[in-house]
Amino acid sequence: MVRQILLLTSCWALASCEYAVRDPFHIGYRVPVQLADGQHVEVETLSNFSTGLPVFYVQDLLSEEECSAIRSAAPRPAMMKSLVAREYQRVTKKRAARHFRDVDVDRDQSLDGDELAQFFKEAADLVDFTWDFLSAYLPKATAAAGDRRQVSQKEFISTDWVKFFRAAKKHHPDWFARHSYQTFVEYSDHAFLQPVLDKVAAVTGLSKSLVRRTAESMQVLLYPEGGHYSCHHDTAPDNPDFPRFLTLFFFLNDVDGGETVFFGTDLNGTYPEDRFAAGEDVWGPIESKCQSVRSCPGFDGSSPFASSLVVKPRAGSAVFWYNMAVTNEGHVGRFYWSSIHGGCPSKGEKWAANIWLHAAHRAGQEL
Ligand SMILES: *[C@@H]1O[C@H](CO)[C@@H](O)[C@H](O)[C@H]1NC(C)=O
Ligand SMILES: *[C@@H]1O[C@H](CO)[C@@H](O)[C@H](O)[C@H]1NC(C)=O
Repeated sequence: MVRQILLLTSCWALASCEYAVRDPFHIGYRVPVQLADGQHVEVETLSNFSTGLPVFYVQDLLSEEECSAIRSAAPRPAMMKSLVAREYQRVTKKRAARHFRDVDVDRDQSLDGDELAQFFKEAADLVDFTWDFLSAYLPKATAAAGDRRQVSQKEFISTDWVKFFRAAKKHHPDWFARHSYQTFVEYSDHAFLQPVLDKVAAVTGLSKSLVRRTAESMQVLLYPEGGHYSCHHDTAPDNPDFPRFLTLFFFLNDVDGGETVFFGTDLNGTYPEDRFAAGEDVWGPIESKCQSVRSCPGFDGSSPFASSLVVKPRAGSAVFWYNMAVTNEGHVGRFYWSSIHGGCPSKGEKWAANIWLHAAHRAGQEL
């Protein structure tokens, strides 16, 4: 506690410490923070570098009124389906031919289950399927059994993939990497959001002016029943336009399910520590394993992520973490691949909001 105050005060004295990050110390560490309205909250460390990624939790950071004001600032008609870039592409016959060439890695002029799964992922972020469901679209391939199920180029190209993806979305939204609605809300349009930003400053230990200056517009999310978001990073290591060094995620209502899971953490110490410092070579395969909603801890008891940190939604609470190292002056450093996280299926409507803070400068050679 004393150490924390000293660290922060010595930084406040120096403009060059503007971006000082919060020290997680150990898991369970709590630091009291007084908000502008006199209310006290505690910032609790849920995970630190030993378990993969520093993650902090603040209960009751927003009042009920603030939660409902944020939800009202994002009226339903303004909510757009959250899309990943790929979904904008319609898989026409011509595109299908190109997709086929791309995913037929063994060049045997037919696709096996793995190659087909690669196509679904690339074309529409569809990460689960059953052959049963496919039988209406690929009758020849699905008539065969087991290993003999191969989709010929002819059958693949003559399939109406637009219709297929539409039907899959309608009947199995859980098969897609993402199922939610979103909109962006401008702070300047809503007076009540300024104190919310100041609360973000208080709990992260950053200055109010820095938070107001570097916060991306608030992203408000609505997950319908069954809504989810597979594991992902909030920013890319090589994206100089979006160095979102910090994510603060608000839960805006109480709902069962809909947990935020940090797939890059391991609270039981099952994994070697050097995994957390590893790069894309190690994290790429891990990321591909947490795409299906079945990877959520507790889903069927066999998830390889059973010891990951899970945060349950609770109205008004917030969880925040760093996506990359940042120096006191705001220079971007090492990307935290272990900041990979996702939202598990909610058992009712789930409202949430993201505030991303941007680092000031590019890292240049460091990236
Ligand atoms: C993380 O927290 C644990 C206790 O929960 C502690 O044993 C460990 O030393 C901490 N790691 C670091 C790097 O401070
Ligand atoms: C993690 O450790 C806790 C407490 O020691 C235990 O209850 C739990 O089953 C463990 N989980 C995994 C996935 O090892």
